[in-house]
Amino acid sequence: MEGWVGSLVTLFCILLSGMSGWAQDVPPFTEDCRSEMYPPTGPTFRGNVSWYTVNLDQAPQDRWQKLITEKKTELTDLIQAIKGLATAIFPSGKIVDLVDRKLPLLIGTLPSPFGEEIEGIADASGLPLGEVMLFNIFYEVFTVCTSVVAEDKSGKLFHARNLDFGLFLGWDVKNNSWMVTELLRPLVINVDFQKNGKTVFMSTSFTGYVGMLTGMKPGILTLTMNERFSLDGGYIGVLEWILGKHDGSWMSFLTRSVLENATSYDEAKTLLSKTKLLAPAYFILGGNKSEEACVITRSRSSCLDIWELDLKQGTWYVLETNYDRWKAPLPIDNRRGPAMKCMDRTTQQNISTATIYDMLSTKPVLNKLTAYTTLMSISDNKLEAYLRICPDPCMPW
Ligand SMILES: *[C@@H]1O[C@H](CO)[C@@H](O)[C@H](O)[C@H]1NC(C)=O
Ligand SMILES: *[C@@H]1O[C@H](CO)[C@@H](O)[C@H](O)[C@H]1NC(C)=O
Ligand SMILES: *[C@@H]1O[C@H](CO)[C@@H](O)[C@H](O)[C@H]1NC(C)=O
Ligand SMILES: *[C@@H]1O[C@H](CO)[C@@H](O)[C@H](O)[C@H]1NC(C)=O
Ligand SMILES: *[C@@H]1O[C@H](CO)[C@@H](O)[C@H](O)[C@H]1NC(C)=O
Repeated sequence: MEGWVGSLVTLFCILLSGMSGWAQDVPPFTEDCRSEMYPPTGPTFRGNVSWYTVNLDQAPQDRWQKLITEKKTELTDLIQAIKGLATAIFPSGKIVDLVDRKLPLLIGTLPSPFGEEIEGIADASGLPLGEVMLFNIFYEVFTVCTSVVAEDKSGKLFHARNLDFGLFLGWDVKNNSWMVTELLRPLVINVDFQKNGKTVFMSTSFTGYVGMLTGMKPGILTLTMNERFSLDGGYIGVLEWILGKHDGSWMSFLTRSVLENATSYDEAKTLLSKTKLLAPAYFILGGNKSEEACVITRSRSSCLDIWELDLKQGTWYVLETNYDRWKAPLPIDNRRGPAMKCMDRTTQQNISTATIYDMLSTKPVLNKLTAYTTLMSISDNKLEAYLRICPDPCMPW
């Protein structure tokens, strides 16, 4: 047991240390705030995200079957690529072996409905259970993003995000892209989760993934989650879970539970700030009326900060990338500065789905890792998502 946990730790460390070596060679490909980018067209737009319906009245094992059957090839390609990268780092094949043999033993420790859904996905795709589990764990580890909730002059709330995924996962020198990000785009879907034929919540997600990173519960709330890198916490919780300590919640499982089962903004806020987690995170939450929006900064066990909209103080938006708001971002990864500059320049008078899309289309807020942009408007009951691409020259993250 200890051996393979050691290997996982080493894997994370190698991947994380890879970053510092490159940093010197990377110019900050920034640009002036974009405008008139919406409706999406042109070189930064890769296509619309299509919709699927998942019926929550079906057994968890069965509810993903149709989608997985349709997207089996794309899912297999991505998982093969991730395995290839792991094998390149540990040529003995030990990592792949432990994923295939050890991870499946832990399926029963996942709370319902997540364990059963992952089993159903493995069945429908024909992929080994351990690899589907690894795929579900990966999103908790390699996601960097930008999220914003803004209120316009009429009190309407807009919640939007760029999902940047695949950091450290296979830089392709030939065409300046991240292999995993490229393979991920075809798996992006919008899901309409229904009960009794009625929408419970909607989400932009990845085929084969059962947690949620982006979603809206009609009339009630909008929610996104961003990764929080922190030394006091890090992935120790994930390792502890693998070793048998199961008292913390997976971050994206909590997000999904809130979207599925919370009945108000306040209930969601309490759950997201109080539930014990396996790793630190940022939750960006919007409600359904004026001044209902906040960024919750979490350590594993406690809530460090809640940053709320406050119109009287001039706070008409809250914006989160992957840094605590009271700390400066890493100079080589400053997406927050450019994003806030564009928000401030737009002003509250002119904020809308279109101008938020403009901000999210500005490099380096848009970068080589950006897989999709989702725009949500609770008062219009609308969630729309677009596949993105960042043409050269563009920041790798
Ligand atoms: C408001 O946003 C629209 C759409 O992007 C843009 O065309 C217009 O110039 C903006 N107006 C101001 C005053 O910034
Ligand atoms: C995306 O959807 C919009 C609106 O439904 C449509 O007008 C447009 O043609 C679609 N674009 C592509 C590339 O499918
Ligand atoms: C980069 O190369 C990969 C694999 O060779 C391919 O799948 C991907 O579409 C390419 N990306 C671009 C932007 O050309
Ligand atoms: C939501 O609540 C129902 C009923 O209690 C439960 O069966 C289901 O597992 C919950 N969903 C999630 C994602 O936690
Ligand atoms: C806003 O959410 C509350 C529950 O938190 C609900 O009672 C109310 O009807 C919602 N308002 C609208 C306009 O949907």
